[in-house]
Amino acid sequence: MLNLYIIVFLLLITNISSSSDLPRISCYRISGVPTRNNDIEGETYKSSLRFIGKTSPVTEILINQANFYWIGLISIGTPKRTFRIDFDTGSTDLWVPSIQCHSSCENKAKYDSNKSNTSRANGAAFRIVYGDGSFANGVFVNDTVTIGNLSILNQAFAQAKNISGFSTSTFDGVLGLAYSSLGTSGQTSIFYNMWQQGLITNPIFSFYFNPDPDAYPGGELIFGDVDPTKYSGSITYANVIIHAYWEFMMNNIQVNNTIICSNCRAILDTGTTLIIGPKIQIALLHRTIGAIFDEETGLYMVDCYTRLLSSFPDVNFSIGNSTFTLSVLQYLLIFNDDDKYICYTVFQGVNLHDNTGALIWILGDYFLNRFYSIYDLNLNRIGLAKSISYDYFQLSPISLFTYSNKTIQFSFNPIFIWLLFVCNILLK
Ligand SMILES: *[C@@H]1O[C@H](CO)[C@@H](O)[C@H](O)[C@H]1NC(C)=O
Ligand SMILES: *[C@@H]1O[C@H](CO)[C@@H](O)[C@H](O)[C@H]1NC(C)=O
Ligand SMILES: *[C@@H]1O[C@H](CO)[C@@H](O)[C@H](O)[C@H]1NC(C)=O
Ligand SMILES: *[C@@H]1O[C@H](CO)[C@@H](O)[C@H](O)[C@H]1NC(C)=O
Ligand SMILES: *[C@@H]1O[C@H](CO)[C@@H](O)[C@H](O)[C@H]1NC(C)=O
Ligand SMILES: *[C@@H]1O[C@H](CO)[C@@H](O)[C@H](O)[C@H]1NC(C)=O
Ligand SMILES: *[C@@H]1O[C@H](CO)[C@@H](O)[C@H](O)[C@H]1NC(C)=O
Ligand SMILES: *[C@@H]1O[C@H](CO)[C@@H](O)[C@H](O)[C@H]1NC(C)=O
Repeated sequence: MLNLYIIVFLLLITNISSSSDLPRISCYRISGVPTRNNDIEGETYKSSLRFIGKTSPVTEILINQANFYWIGLISIGTPKRTFRIDFDTGSTDLWVPSIQCHSSCENKAKYDSNKSNTSRANGAAFRIVYGDGSFANGVFVNDTVTIGNLSILNQAFAQAKNISGFSTSTFDGVLGLAYSSLGTSGQTSIFYNMWQQGLITNPIFSFYFNPDPDAYPGGELIFGDVDPTKYSGSITYANVIIHAYWEFMMNNIQVNNTIICSNCRAILDTGTTLIIGPKIQIALLHRTIGAIFDEETGLYMVDCYTRLLSSFPDVNFSIGNSTFTLSVLQYLLIFNDDDKYICYTVFQGVNLHDNTGALIWILGDYFLNRFYSIYDLNLNRIGLAKSISYDYFQLSPISLFTYSNKTIQFSFNPIFIWLLFVCNILLK
């Protein structure tokens, strides 16, 4: 079992040429002892999958990979072969490694069309490049894809023969849940097939991400429904404005009375770890928070030793009729490097455009692990509600964020030894 994690940015890049200012995306690898939750082949995992059968909602239990991404299991072919999958609302294709993928697919499950008696030739070429410069290419094939006991027949997906940027990822492949128009090859997407084949009663799906890396379950993806036990209060909806990404208009982002942006375009992207915005707006946000840019990592740093928690303002996202607030311990990444803590924010500046050329915000996992998200393909809208895990805090800041001379005692999840290093993938 791999035990390295990486900040992921699985957003399909649609207009690479016009995004000439795409920066180096800095990544952090974390080495750590796998937790029990990582044992996804284990019995706990299997027995907790629950399915209500055909035309009922299907619940997929997700595993939290150190708050960097969440994975779940699907199987493909007859007989079934199991794959660990990153479910990504920022792209549309489904791909898994092919039996013909050698060195770049080491330690990953592989699909062999010759060993599945339900496979059918498709032949279309596949190539995808994500926002962090990772890519996969290969050839499409059709086969039965099973999620729990719900089987999608004759589903087109790519068998990847060469992949790059995934060697430390604990998932085998990626399952895209954006609109069909973002598909790289005009194949019918898996969610559309699920609906068309009558497997779900409502064309919606919803994500719950638990920010507690040790909790079980680590998260939940439901096809066909929302899970009212995973959020509190009411759901706020916003219309999807372009049927490609799950893109909508945000009224504004506000930090201590400074408007960071107003009428901003935003997308919900489960495949991206951080919250990403246009560089100028991200710079303003950090001036307001009091964070400085760290050239080496491409992230913004704060002094978390001597600054009091109360000196860090909330970051408020106004969407529809509601305000979605991230407070300081929800928007900091706290790394322990050699007994020294380094604190970065989860906000990163990257100029990314939608297909109208407008700059967009990407609300990734550090937003979605506090707000339950709903994706409605029928009414073409997204929904957000306060997650039941909104108030979970990973650490008790006894030594940090204080002027006092208390001895350093930090109840950070002890099984993780956090190692910081920059990987600087260049996007071609
Ligand atoms: C799916 O699982 C449910 C619950 O375990 C079971 O009742 C149902 O028969 C299964 N459906 C199929 C098609 O196997
Ligand atoms: C396909 O394989 C499954 C499991 O190996 C077997 O049960 C089934 O009979 C096979 N179907 C055909 C058409 O060969
Ligand atoms: C399947 O088998 C055929 C014939 O043996 C072979 O030519 C082909 O390369 C195989 N395909 C894969 C994906 O291994
Ligand atoms: C995979 O892609 C890399 C990077 O583009 C390339 O150097 C390598 O030759 C490719 N490998 C195969 C087997 O195509
Ligand atoms: C494979 O799936 C595609 C839809 O993505 C469909 O157009 C095509 O007909 C399928 N191929 C076969 C052989 O069924
Ligand atoms: C942020 O939103 C909270 C409610 O969630 C509100 O109490 C607070 O005043 C807001 N702050 C700013 C700067 O808008
Ligand atoms: C908000 O801004 C005011 C001045 O504009 C400042 O005095 C105050 O400390 C700031 N609050 C936070 C939490 O940053
Ligand atoms: C916002 O509130 C108004 C009045 O309460 C209501 O008519 C409208 O539908 C709400 N809009 C959204 C997006 O919830």
